Amino acid sequence: MGKKSFVVPVDKTGWKLQDGSGAVQFSWEYDSSREKLLNLYDKGKRRQWDAKVRIDWDLEIDHDNPLGSSDEMIPLFGSPIWSSLSQNDKVELRRHIVAWQFSQFLHGEQGALICASKIVQTVPELDAKYYAATQVFDEARHMEVYSTYLDKLGLAYPINLNLKSLLEDVLTDSRWDMTYLGMQVLIEGLALAAFGLIRNFTTNELGRTITAYVMQDEARHVAFGRNALKDFYPQLSSKERQEREEFAAEACLSMRDRFLSEEVWDTLGYDVAECVKWMKESPGQVQFRSFLFMRIVPILKDIGLWGPTIKESFEKMGVIGFADTNIDELMKDDEAQAEEFDRKRISQVEDAIDAAKTDPIVPGQH
Ligand SMILES: [Fe+2]
Ligand SMILES: [Fe+2]
Repeated sequence: MGKKSFVVPVDKTGWKLQDGSGAVQFSWEYDSSREKLLNLYDKGKRRQWDAKVRIDWDLEIDHDNPLGSSDEMIPLFGSPIWSSLSQNDKVELRRHIVAWQFSQFLHGEQGALICASKIVQTVPELDAKYYAATQVFDEARHMEVYSTYLDKLGLAYPINLNLKSLLEDVLTDSRWDMTYLGMQVLIEGLALAAFGLIRNFTTNELGRTITAYVMQDEARHVAFGRNALKDFYPQLSSKERQEREEFAAEACLSMRDRFLSEEVWDTLGYDVAECVKWMKESPGQVQFRSFLFMRIVPILKDIGLWGPTIKESFEKMGVIGFADTNIDELMKDDEAQAEEFDRKRISQVEDAIDAAKTDPIVPGQH
């Protein structure tokens, strides 16, 4: 397998930041644990997997259309720029879109790895430290998966500046619950919705398989953040909850308005302002970006960050309708779909073994 080539050399994009926590907490309460979190920890242990074994890395990627997605899924589809592109330009655009998207997944996974390890240090309760430790390993595996995928694709992008600034806010805040809120609820909630589109609406087997497996783990991570915060937020004063609501409302707005793939348009030499205008105004794109909040909205409601600030903000964004989404059903489905990919893989391996047994021996080959 080759290696991915970054559109900007990585020695030009290094990143170090001061971790603002300074608040490492030990806990000696070895025996008082919440059953819900311990159940998740047990599940996390049982569901560990090896990306080298579980995924068939020999599955091909079609470099002309890596995810096997329809043209309608390309952000510029239908725009004047799209109509001016040649067949070759379209091939290049598809490849760059996937490289950009999966690169953000990769960098986001590294952010999740660092956040989960920070939670191990800063969260006061031992049951949460246990669980976060399993998440650390899950996130390392997700990085491995996306990095290997990008090697196969041969192309990668640096971290998007808006993702970077959100990660910086989450990582430099000294309040431990902000790491959960920013990472487990907002960033992972958004990622789950984006992953869901790939798993459900594209056709490339490798892309869909890795997404389904990562989603199986992410469903647990979001459940962890949700359970921990649901216990914690009622204990805060209304002023403290208000601060969290404002942070969440601001982060959601910026995630909606800022992730506009400018780096791709710039790298390909398109008119960036025109592309951004299209992304912001095209009804299809507006609808797509609303869909990304399908998981975040019901979770914020569930954990009790559901005052006037957040409700007004979601009403303005046109995503308040997701408030009653049945998040437990979605998570159950995430697990079931990953198991379905496992079953398919096992039956393919069994078929291959059966075929090898019944294949007539070709003279000269054995
Ligand atoms: Fe992850
Ligand atoms: Fe995660």
